[in-house]
Amino acid sequence: MAIQSPTGFNDMLPDDELFWEEFQAVARQVFGLYGYNQVEVPIAEQTELFVRGIGEATDVVSKEMFATFSGENLKTLLDGGNLKSKSRLSLRPEGTAGVVRAVVQHDLVPQGGAPAKLMYAGPMFRAERVQKGRLRQFHQVGVECLGAEEPTIDAEAIIMLMRFYEKVGIPAEKMNLLINSMGCEKCRPAYREAVRAYMDQHADELCETCNTRKEINPLRAFDCKNDGCKEVMAGAPRISDHLCPDCKAHYDQVREYLELAGISYEEDYKLVRGLDYYTRTVFEVQASDGVGAQSAIGGGGRYDKLAEEVGGRPTPGLGFALGFERCKLVLEACGKEFPKAAKCDLFIACVDASVRSAAFKLMQSCRDAGVTAEMDHQGRSLKSQFKLADKMNAANVAILGPDELANGQVKLRNMATHDEMLVKLEDAVSTLLATE
Ligand code: HAM
Repeated sequence: MAIQSPTGFNDMLPDDELFWEEFQAVARQVFGLYGYNQVEVPIAEQTELFVRGIGEATDVVSKEMFATFSGENLKTLLDGGNLKSKSRLSLRPEGTAGVVRAVVQHDLVPQGGAPAKLMYAGPMFRAERVQKGRLRQFHQVGVECLGAEEPTIDAEAIIMLMRFYEKVGIPAEKMNLLINSMGCEKCRPAYREAVRAYMDQHADELCETCNTRKEINPLRAFDCKNDGCKEVMAGAPRISDHLCPDCKAHYDQVREYLELAGISYEEDYKLVRGLDYYTRTVFEVQASDGVGAQSAIGGGGRYDKLAEEVGGRPTPGLGFALGFERCKLVLEACGKEFPKAAKCDLFIACVDASVRSAAFKLMQSCRDAGVTAEMDHQGRSLKSQFKLADKMNAANVAILGPDELANGQVKLRNMATHDEMLVKLEDAVSTLLATE
């Protein structure tokens, strides 16, 4: 059997690539209005960055990272040797840790300087169990704002995210924005202990995984899909009752700004997100159509301690990422028309082989003038050339025969209207440009 792509790693064929381009262009346009500029960070980073940044106990780091080795380093490992930490690399499971690393490395937020507002787009890798909307290589568009802790930044990022979805074609009524506050290093430890104590009281009603989670990160139990655990966790202490005055005021203001902008949201005390770096505001957008169980089409939050975690000076941060493939599933369910691979402006059909050089020359003049042009390269019959022109979705066909060529002319046929006109060979390009 011919070799297939690995499970969960999909090809992006020309039509997919066109939509990926359009998706990024909309993001650049919308996020640009809010001051975000694009960056590109490496696909692989030192594994330690993700361990320290995202958190060793998260599923993403403990189970889902793809390690990557040079041939030489792999040999060292297979021979039982050890690698220095800078040679231990992993494919990025998300973009935040890498962007924050870059901000710290290049000092993009100098002390007292303006916040850095950065966007990125590209593939991410997680060794997850593959299902509809859940891939091992998927694409995210994300933003990160470093150097500002004001609630206006949280609110404007959420507003911008919702504006993006609408602009790309997802109707507001198909989405649900969930928000929560995770507190900070002052109030969360006590809250975490309260949840752990509650879980201890209900240990025999919780699944094994939750009982293990309880020791390392009890808040993850809010994410458990087990019905028994869901029921127990519904009665667990809520973070909203445990926020310190600063976190409460911050959260209140984020909600006020969202209301001011007319953004509807739902508060969800269960929203804890799967990455350990979050502090204060967290949010997620879930879609109702097309995505099945994987309904989160985007999410993010504040991470005021992450820069320090990766070795930088204290720099508050906030961002989000949205999943391209999941958004596409939602858009398909909404009946969106996706762009089709580029249309050919002109197909040049040769009546016989004697005109091929002239056809080739005309094709080149077209391309040089910005007109997409194609011809047959395999000596097909005239009839087959017309079929090929149809397949290529050609807007016009130029018919070039020895008689036309002898008169320095070519016949142009508009494939939509079937109108034909005889034009001078040297005027063919300008005629096409004029009728575009
Ligand atoms: P995340 O929630 O892990 O957050 O991922 C963001 C989005 O990426 C998800 O809502 C989903 O649409 C998409 N996604 C995640 N995993 C998969 C997968 N296996 N297959 C397909 N799509 C997927 C982050 O990654 C954070 N870095 C977001 C962030 C930025 N927080 C602060 N700044």
